[in-house]
Amino acid sequence: MLKPDAVENGHIGAILEKITGAGFKIAAMKYTQLSKRDAEAFYAVHNERPFFGELVSFMTRGPIVAAILEKDNAVEDFRALIGATNPAEAAEGTIRKLFAKDIGENAVHGSDSDENAAIEGAFHFAGREIY
Ligand code: RTP
Ligand code: MG
Repeated sequence: MLKPDAVENGHIGAILEKITGAGFKIAAMKYTQLSKRDAEAFYAVHNERPFFGELVSFMTRGPIVAAILEKDNAVEDFRALIGATNPAEAAEGTIRKLFAKDIGENAVHGSDSDENAAIEGAFHFAGREIY
């Protein structure tokens, strides 16, 4: 996902260019907004964390871009491309270093495993929307 901060700041095009330039194929894509229920479900793994309320309110405050990306070694390579959760710790040239403000508003989400990527893809897309 390109998170609400990335959309608000006009970074959709630049971020997509980094993603496709790194060799990811776009298998599905949409511009949409998460409801509170959607965000709570999507980030349910974090529901005991102190930042959960802040995360849900951030993720629902404006539209996002959801995508399914394909590449060999996609999970690991995408996380390398986006950089550390906290942009202050992200490597030079990574998407979060270039476009994110802080650990909460960090521009992009990446799945953390192939299994979660499949679950998250099905969360956003019907089968006929995946190419
Ligand atoms: P994501 O799931 O969004 O790709 O991020 P991530 O794996 O790098 O980080 P994760 O630990 O899964 O955290 C999910 C998102 O919660 C917000 N967060 N805020 N205020 C804080 O201390 C804090 N920590 C995490 C961020 O938006 C983070 O990406
Ligand atoms: Mg995560």
